[in-house]
Amino acid sequence: MFDATTRTLVVVGAQWGDEGKGKLVDVLAEKADWVVRYQGGANAGHTVHIGNKSRVLHQIPSGILHEGVRCAIGNGVVMDPETLFHEIDKLVADGIDVEGRLYVSERAHLVMAYHKLVDKASASSKAIGTTGRGIGPAYEDKVARRGVRVLDLRSPDRLRELVTAGVARANWSLERSGSSERASVDDTIAALNTLAPRLLGIAEDVGLCVHRAIKSGAAVLLEGAQGSLLDIDHGTYPYVTSSNTTVGGAATGVGISPMCIQYALGVVKAYTTRVGNGPLPTELDEPLQSEVRALGNEFGATTGRARRCGWFDGVVVRYAARVNGLTGLAVTKLDVLDTLEQLAICTGYRVDGELHVEFPADVGMLERAEPVYEWFEGWQRPTQDVRQLEDLPSAARAYLDRIEALCETPIAFVSVGTRRDQIIGGHAGV
Ligand code: IMP
Ligand code: MG
Repeated sequence: MFDATTRTLVVVGAQWGDEGKGKLVDVLAEKADWVVRYQGGANAGHTVHIGNKSRVLHQIPSGILHEGVRCAIGNGVVMDPETLFHEIDKLVADGIDVEGRLYVSERAHLVMAYHKLVDKASASSKAIGTTGRGIGPAYEDKVARRGVRVLDLRSPDRLRELVTAGVARANWSLERSGSSERASVDDTIAALNTLAPRLLGIAEDVGLCVHRAIKSGAAVLLEGAQGSLLDIDHGTYPYVTSSNTTVGGAATGVGISPMCIQYALGVVKAYTTRVGNGPLPTELDEPLQSEVRALGNEFGATTGRARRCGWFDGVVVRYAARVNGLTGLAVTKLDVLDTLEQLAICTGYRVDGELHVEFPADVGMLERAEPVYEWFEGWQRPTQDVRQLEDLPSAARAYLDRIEALCETPIAFVSVGTRRDQIIGGHAGV
């Protein structure tokens, strides 16, 4: 995918997250010099399978598993230092060399312990079904211009001032939610001071580092978290996360120009899943939903929650292709559908008697949407060992061709299993 002219590419989720971005980033990172996360935080759960081992990364870019690749956490991420060092220590214990090649933007905002308390207790977080990792409250403080950034750890007086105000606000919010939990200024500062030397040791002007890397001709991969339909602006608001997950967010979240991005790879499952609340127009009925969940092992990597499962929604992915300007698609977990007798792809929604082929912005309309389906024969043959598109059963190819046509985007990869090698490089010149 990286070649003489394509040097900066972005990997985004084109559904509601958990599309398999971690696997694609892991595969592409083999040829990358830098891998940079641009938004979200420890709400992400990127699962990568190597050999018989599976590993879930929440904050560190999936590129870390490749020796020599430099990884960075951009300014657009809200960073939980406790989780970060826990993750680093686990990698180091497994013999993966991390220090010296992982950097954190000094502009990144910190997720504080009190953000997590508020996220877990608040009624609005429960209504949305958040991951409880403090993501929303940390972004709220960022946008309200009162957040704590990595660089604030260098200024003890400013840090105390920000934390004092943050704790007061959090305790007020906890009280209102009926929670008995309370945050303490001294405990919060003591915990931060313990981690500060380590964190400041890897703090950098990440935008500048990536800019220099791009100028020197390095291969740079920008790694998105969550999915386009969870984007704060373009997703199924208010059932979304609190950041721009789409390609535009990659530029602002790293601190480089959008003009630098030369390829946008949209990752989609061969069906649809969503974890948390909010509309999912193609959600399957029982017992098929439980069957697909079991086949695809659809349980959240961060929270362990059962993921809701649905047919492939062409309206959603067509929309994501447009908003992100996708250059290519990676279709993952095709093998999960191997045993099904028939499959459906949604091509439109009927809402209040009217047909919509473009994704509506109003969540109420999405809740009332009745999907219009095209039906496909199942291939009922295992695909895990297929490595060439031509070798896929013709029914599977017909299914993929329809996805390509509906989304007006060529398929660059098809993934047919969890392992690194279980991937088909498609017919998009990749
Ligand atoms: P938050 O990002 O924890 O605030 O959660 C907001 C919504 O995004 C909830 O519906 C979560 O389930 C969903 N969400 C957040 N991170 C992920 C992810 O990595 N995969 C899938 N859904 C996610
Ligand atoms: Mg995930």
